[in-house]
Amino acid sequence: MKGIVFTEFLELVEDKFGLEMVDKIISSSELESGGIYTSVGTYSFSEMLQLLQHLSDNTGLSIDTLLLVYAEHFFSVLEDSYPGLLATYKDPIEMISSIENHIHVEVRKIYPDAELPTFEVVEKTKDSLVMIYTSSRAMHHFGLGLMNKTFEHFNSTATIELEKIKEDGTEVRFIINKN
Ligand code: HEM
Repeated sequence: MKGIVFTEFLELVEDKFGLEMVDKIISSSELESGGIYTSVGTYSFSEMLQLLQHLSDNTGLSIDTLLLVYAEHFFSVLEDSYPGLLATYKDPIEMISSIENHIHVEVRKIYPDAELPTFEVVEKTKDSLVMIYTSSRAMHHFGLGLMNKTFEHFNSTATIELEKIKEDGTEVRFIINKN
């Protein structure tokens, strides 16, 4: 997992819960990195899982809720870091349906070792989209947060339903309807 995902995560934890919480979740985890991340480095996903688990234990918020909130913050990082990529799009359905064959393709050119999910488009109309998310990391709520913010970015809103195809969340159907 890319370092930018860790550095932005820890910044958000500090903003919302304070530096003590950052210290607490780092020191209660067993981290190969020692909890020191650079945005361009690559770190084990298990480090992120431990940090999320300990944050969840300390706040009472579920990992899904934490990932959703984190993704909503991460979207603004993407807006600032990759304005050109976002400017390619005029419509949220067009953008979200292009993650697999455009956006994450570009991401892989920048970060060849990125660990990305797959999003298969199953059905698409002007105002609706059905996609299958597949990833061993089961970060579907991270996807949900990014989708919410994508609609907001285009001054729009949507109703987004998630249906787990696999109980462990490694395969999830997203049903998206523009409001
Ligand atoms: C400009 C737009 C975008 C950029 C630059 C971008 C970039 C990235 C990067 C750098 C990662 C982390 C990879 C790693 O840690 O190795 C990531 C992960 C991810 N992205 Fe994107 N992304 C964009 C848009 C989106 C959108 C709109 C979605 C909405 C569904 C999305 C869904 C995900 C998910 C779910 C992950 C987590 C990894 C996983 O589930 O396996 N991305 N993306």
